Amino acid sequence: MSGQTPTAPAGERTVLVGVTGGIAIYKAVELVRGLVKDGFQPLVVSTQAAQRFVMPLTFAAVSQAPALDDESAWQASGGWFQHIEAARTARVMVVAPATANTLAKMAAGLADNLLTAIYLAFRGPVIVAPTMNWAMNEHPATVANLRLLAARGVEVLPAEEGELACGEEGSGRMAPPEAIRLAVRRAFAGTAAGPLAGKKVVVTSGGTRERIDAVRFIGNRSSGKMGRAVADEAYLRGARVALVTTQPADGAPYGVVRVESSDDMGAAVREQVRDADVLVMAAAVADFKPRSEEAGKIQRGDREALTLDLVRTVDILAGTARPGLFRVGFAAEAGPRLQRAREKKAATGVDLLVFNDILAEGVGIGADENAITIITAREEIEVPRTSKRACAAAIADQIEAGLQAR
Ligand SMILES: Cc1cc2nc3c(=O)[nH]c(=O)nc-3n(C[C@H](O)[C@H](O)[C@H](O)COP(=O)(O)O)c2cc1C
Repeated sequence: MSGQTPTAPAGERTVLVGVTGGIAIYKAVELVRGLVKDGFQPLVVSTQAAQRFVMPLTFAAVSQAPALDDESAWQASGGWFQHIEAARTARVMVVAPATANTLAKMAAGLADNLLTAIYLAFRGPVIVAPTMNWAMNEHPATVANLRLLAARGVEVLPAEEGELACGEEGSGRMAPPEAIRLAVRRAFAGTAAGPLAGKKVVVTSGGTRERIDAVRFIGNRSSGKMGRAVADEAYLRGARVALVTTQPADGAPYGVVRVESSDDMGAAVREQVRDADVLVMAAAVADFKPRSEEAGKIQRGDREALTLDLVRTVDILAGTARPGLFRVGFAAEAGPRLQRAREKKAATGVDLLVFNDILAEGVGIGADENAITIITAREEIEVPRTSKRACAAAIADQIEAGLQAR
């Protein structure tokens, strides 16, 4: 946008998106598109290095607004101070990708370009998504800078492990755009005062896999979507979330522990709930597992039948009861068996029980929608067929009400 004097879009939904000179900047284009889809107005600010990778014009096109850069700031006339104006206009600021260089400047309070000047002038929530080669990421200087920024209230979305653009493996991949979008939604929601703010919420999701031999398992059709929706909702309400899941959790901006069997899940849950405030057991945990795992692969040979010796799995929920831990169980029943769910609530001593009928049309296991009944200590709340996201919001409402009633 060099040579022009763009005017900053005004409005309550403006999010400043700082883009810096990291190779992951191509993902920032998708991020900006996503933010527009989420109903935000991105205002993109590019560093000079960023412009060597992606032209501001690209960001202007996808954000449907002028994109700012150092040149546009110097060209601005009529007493218009872009760094102050942009800082005034926006509600949330996100820097993605955030290079080691820009993070160091932010930590040190340097303001030698438009982006870092805006950062210093900005008073709202700031999110950064670092990305760099693993060695840069693990350098004590970078570690110290990120720690300092986090201590000042900047939300650092940690770089992920994986294959890096430089061809090496390690930690340094930028958090995925979906994770950054969720972090922006949370920052806009302003969750600081809600009952779940700062609480540790452990959520389980997905169906467990109980190994028969080296290649086969007993599983179920649970997709993990309901638990994922609850984890996202708790995160949006300011909770510190740990998701223990058998399913990939792409784009989760919180801690994810991948597990396979009911035993793995039990161990992970016991570890995670030690300092937790809330446990939501949305996973479909197997009731039975093979007594032992066969080494290698069971051969068909000339067998006519194969009998598996199954034993009960450990009841994960039962082992977690302790004062101060608010527990939520799920009962997936075949048919409208609300009475059984009520009995399960009484038997397990959970604070909330979420019932769903897995035979109901178009809802439940594997589907995107659900229809649930939330059984609390005082009432039963029916949530007719709707998205799992809306069901998760209803469950989170009841968790908040339960926490407040304590
Ligand atoms: C091809 C290429 C890729 C780069 N990728 C990264 C990166 O992922 N992370 C990073 O911190 N720096 C990366 N750099 C170095 C930065 O671009 C450099 O430190 C620059 O000064 C950053 O400026 P900025 O923070 O103002 O955007 C890369 C440089 C090049 C040439």
